[in-house]
Amino acid sequence: MARPPWWHRGVVYQIYPRSFADGNGDGIGDLRGLLDRVEYLAWLGIDAVWLSPIFPSPMADFGYDVAEYCDVDPLFGTLADLDAVRDALHDRGIKLLLDWIPNHTSDRHPWFLDSRSSRSSPRRDWYVWRDPRPGGGPPNNWVHAFADGRPAWTFDAPTGQYYLHSFLPAQPDLDWSTPAVEQAMHAVLRFWLDRGIDGFRIDVVHGLGKDPELPDDPPERAGLPHIAFNDHPSVHPILRRLRAMVDAYPGDRVLVGEVFLLGPHDVTAYYGLGDELHLAFDLPRCLHVPWEATSWREHTAAVLAAHEACQAWPTLVLSNHDTPRHRSRLGSEARARAAAFLLLGLPGTPFLYAGEELGLEDAVIPPERAVDPGGRDGCRAPLPWDATPSHGWNASPWLPWPPEPARRNVAELRADETSILHLYRRLLRARRGSPALAWGSWRPLRTSAPVFAWERGADGDRRLVAVNFTDDEERLELEGRVEVSSDGSGEGQPFAGVLAPCAGVILRPD
Ligand code: NOJ
Ligand code: CA
Repeated sequence: MARPPWWHRGVVYQIYPRSFADGNGDGIGDLRGLLDRVEYLAWLGIDAVWLSPIFPSPMADFGYDVAEYCDVDPLFGTLADLDAVRDALHDRGIKLLLDWIPNHTSDRHPWFLDSRSSRSSPRRDWYVWRDPRPGGGPPNNWVHAFADGRPAWTFDAPTGQYYLHSFLPAQPDLDWSTPAVEQAMHAVLRFWLDRGIDGFRIDVVHGLGKDPELPDDPPERAGLPHIAFNDHPSVHPILRRLRAMVDAYPGDRVLVGEVFLLGPHDVTAYYGLGDELHLAFDLPRCLHVPWEATSWREHTAAVLAAHEACQAWPTLVLSNHDTPRHRSRLGSEARARAAAFLLLGLPGTPFLYAGEELGLEDAVIPPERAVDPGGRDGCRAPLPWDATPSHGWNASPWLPWPPEPARRNVAELRADETSILHLYRRLLRARRGSPALAWGSWRPLRTSAPVFAWERGADGDRRLVAVNFTDDEERLELEGRVEVSSDGSGEGQPFAGVLAPCAGVILRPD
């Protein structure tokens, strides 16, 4: 079998820049802070970094409201700092992906200021402007995200029309049916590709194709955000042109799209015939599989069958900056450790959210410290780097610490070989050293019910992986040498046939 591209084999580490590391002591993470921690990323053994937005922004949605696509917000540093991060990562063989937000801009973006300035502005059609409904009110019944049932439309009195915003009123939607929008956005991507960026995570990519009629949402979806159901075929030619542009660059650049659709949908459609996205998230499905062997087995089999049918390669995600961390959702570190065997042992490109390797839980946010309009502050708490009172940050950070920062920090866990951090590192190393684990085939194994076990294979290399979801010890008739176990016990020894409560294991058949 030919070795697949790096974005099939590699592990991507998501950094939320405000919360990763602070270089200038203002309590907000930045690029110099990240630069100082590149050594940690290399030690951990990841293959790529996806950096959540660092572009100039009024921060109404903490950077997902972009006011300039080809620069860095002074809060995070400068373009030169970003170049330095890129070089430091590349020197260690780590790729750098940026977050591209094409569905909407900030309402302070010069494009929107121009579009809003008059009905005859040359950029009026860069955004979605519509007259009020006959008799007044928003043009349709769409509701925006982050609001209980509030319209996805805001009235602009000076020009007498509404503009569409799938998210906050401060995030107007671009109109991708206008060719000049696509051209301007291709120029943005070229700017970064020319600068040596290895690819992009694409924000709400399913939003780019909209039904030109903008029909009302059906009554059964009343109050639900329109964007979570927006799945229109006009997105596909947009993606094909994007892919062709990106693939013309040397060096295996990658497009990873965030597809966040509720209701029936087919995420593999976003891969096209290998001519649209390289990878797509299917977040609602991936994040909420019940903690139970049968559910995970069925979920995995369904995802793989759908992806194999069109030669697409899935993604694996347990946590990100929009959802409570899986350590909090699952309720214990033992489960978080076992979940790491799913993330790093199942087929697909894993996306690891910074801090999950420390077993971080969400921070408890007192109401007076809440800042996010979407209520997502808990999973965005800063990363504690050491046990000192400031945990490696120079000022009191922008959000409260996650629980147990004195113990659950990089320095402490790095010094403790039994920690979850070392488990992640061993799993990452095992994955990197095994074609079977990194990109091999998958076959579920028959076991006693509460255990989910599977085999991976590639190029004569084989691994068996098993996860016990129960709180009881389980017997398991599998043979091989233990390569990685949840608590490190038995590693290097023949498997003794018993899987500890809530634990995972990787075996190497002799
Ligand atoms: C998805 C991003 O992950 C989220 O943080 C953001 O608020 C929305 N898209 C809008 O850009
Ligand atoms: Ca800072």
